[in-house]
Amino acid sequence: MQKLEELYKGKAKSVYATDDADHFIMHFRNDTSAFDGKKLAQLDRKGMVNNKFNAFIMAKLQEAGVPTHFEKLLSDTECLVKKLKMIPVECVIRNYAAGSLCRRLGIQEGRHISPPTFELFLKDDSLGDPMINDSHAETFGWATKAQLQQMRELTYKVNEVLQPLFEQGGMLLVDFKLEFGLFHDQLILGDEFSPDGCRLWDAETREKMDKDRFRQDLGNVIEFYEEVGKRLGVVF
Ligand code: TMP
Ligand code: ASP
Repeated sequence: MQKLEELYKGKAKSVYATDDADHFIMHFRNDTSAFDGKKLAQLDRKGMVNNKFNAFIMAKLQEAGVPTHFEKLLSDTECLVKKLKMIPVECVIRNYAAGSLCRRLGIQEGRHISPPTFELFLKDDSLGDPMINDSHAETFGWATKAQLQQMRELTYKVNEVLQPLFEQGGMLLVDFKLEFGLFHDQLILGDEFSPDGCRLWDAETREKMDKDRFRQDLGNVIEFYEEVGKRLGVVF
């Protein structure tokens, strides 16, 4: 497989074309960002840690029957993925209150949310990733009714698979964000799953082990990502 030109440079990852029309190479960089790109930094080992973390989680999801774009690891910081046409809608499930939910609805941080909530956000940094609903997505052509239904079902399924996995490692899966895309009209999970796009707390102490460490200047960001990985059995 030959790596060709960079097609897309996101805030933390780059996507490269390959000589195979159905595949891209995804490169995890050491860049990190928060608040829709307003806060930026470079963190040693981040690309490697998130690439291997993502490979581990995607394999677990695939085993559980969630279709994903992940094919295989190519190097410390690269993996091979199916070429998707991305749907510009972010799907968020929350099991405990944190982040924007607390700000928007005045819910106290840490409150257990049962049943878990499901929310949609438009992927648009220039607008600050605003919250949207199904009606917006359908009317403005971001996703069809059928796609929204599938995205919702798959996001709940991911929650069912990952909650016990993190629990076994002594962690609470507080919330997470997923992005989906189309591979020859089949809707599958794309992007990544890493501590960049979810919240994880130690189950005993409720210490933050995810990107909130960067957002809130708590320090030791990558050391905590590695600790999360170690507790799950990820080999770095
Ligand atoms: P929020 O509390 O800021 O709405 O975020 C909820 C979860 O989704 C949190 O784990 C962070 C993740 N997320 C992203 O990774 N990127 C995004 O653009 C958004 C809106 C959320
Ligand atoms: N993922 C977004 C960003 O990197 C939002 C966030 O994580 O705060 O800017």
